Amino acid sequence: MTPVLPIQYDFSLQGLNTFGIAAKAKAYLRVTSADMLTQVRSDDFLARLPRLVLGGGSNLLLTRDFAGLVLHMSTSGVEIVAEDAGATYVKAAAGENWHQFVQWTLGQGMGGLENLSLIPGSVGAAPIQNIGAYGVEVKDCFHALTAFDFDTGEIVVLDKAACRFGYRDSLFKHALRDRAVILDVTFALPKNWRAQTQYADVAQELTARAVASPAPQDVADAIIAIRNRKLPDPAKIGNAGSFFKNPVVSADLRDALLASHPNLVSYPQPDGSYKLAAGWLIDQSGWKGKSMGAAGVYEKQALVLVNRGGATGQEIAALANAIQMDVMSRFGVMLEPEPVFI
Ligand code: EPU
Repeated sequence: MTPVLPIQYDFSLQGLNTFGIAAKAKAYLRVTSADMLTQVRSDDFLARLPRLVLGGGSNLLLTRDFAGLVLHMSTSGVEIVAEDAGATYVKAAAGENWHQFVQWTLGQGMGGLENLSLIPGSVGAAPIQNIGAYGVEVKDCFHALTAFDFDTGEIVVLDKAACRFGYRDSLFKHALRDRAVILDVTFALPKNWRAQTQYADVAQELTARAVASPAPQDVADAIIAIRNRKLPDPAKIGNAGSFFKNPVVSADLRDALLASHPNLVSYPQPDGSYKLAAGWLIDQSGWKGKSMGAAGVYEKQALVLVNRGGATGQEIAALANAIQMDVMSRFGVMLEPEPVFI
């Protein structure tokens, strides 16, 4: 007989979102196997509820209680599944903590993910928004993933091309949104590893540490130090990392902005467009360190919104909206939030 699913009702999500916002789920399930998802799908009541798949809760803004079923991915397991001349293939369960997984690969002597050290969240969430930092994105070491398809009830395997990765973007934010649940991810960690130190912050930190030819762990240590200096620890100050994406604009708009703001921070893109530093736009608009109610803009990085204590999701959303309107009126650029709003 199939065991009854341990559903919990009116479940507090406060400890499960890194903003630390107090909100409840109508129903909650700690998912420890793919079979549980099959069971949810074949249950008349549960299958009809709206679903929210939760990993580390680090890319989520809860503006209200969730009147549906939270599927909290809590699977575990990391293993080396294959090896060839070019790479070692490592599979990790969706529920594994991202940073701990990265540290595990480094402990095994495998480079590739070190620039993504200390990013909050889970392995299963990493491909959804193609997490990235310091010149590396998850797609760079991604091999394949398996996902449970709620439409068909089948488990599917998707390779890199199928996932359609973009800047903080993938198929899971579009066609497979609300449909696929990532079960595990396999990474191809390169044997001919080379340090990615093109970001000035990283190069400077390594120089300061007198590391001339860094090993993967040296790069990780440098990045951990940089992140600790610039970004608030969610365990101490509620936040969801960068709250907005860096906007991509036409060369014409970038040139016009540069004419009126000579110190504009922008990065050329392969297609001729430019990515602007949203943190710079927000900082220049005078928001750094400001607050609206218990929602605030972090003092050391204007792109990060923080919960100064007891903030509601609506307060954070109101602050985000005020910033968007202000940046729009000054620069003609609409900032797009990174987190999922509920
Ligand atoms: N800047 C300011 N004022 C600020 C913040 C930034 O002037 O308050 C300027 C900086 O001086 C710099 C530029 O803006 O010239 C970019 O800042 P930074 O290097 O801190 O990076 P970012 O573009 O703000 C992105 C990612 C981060 C990632 C870093 C490092 C996005 C939305 N954010 O931030 O990712 O860690 O680069 O690679 O792409 C996240 O997505 O949650 C995240 C933390």
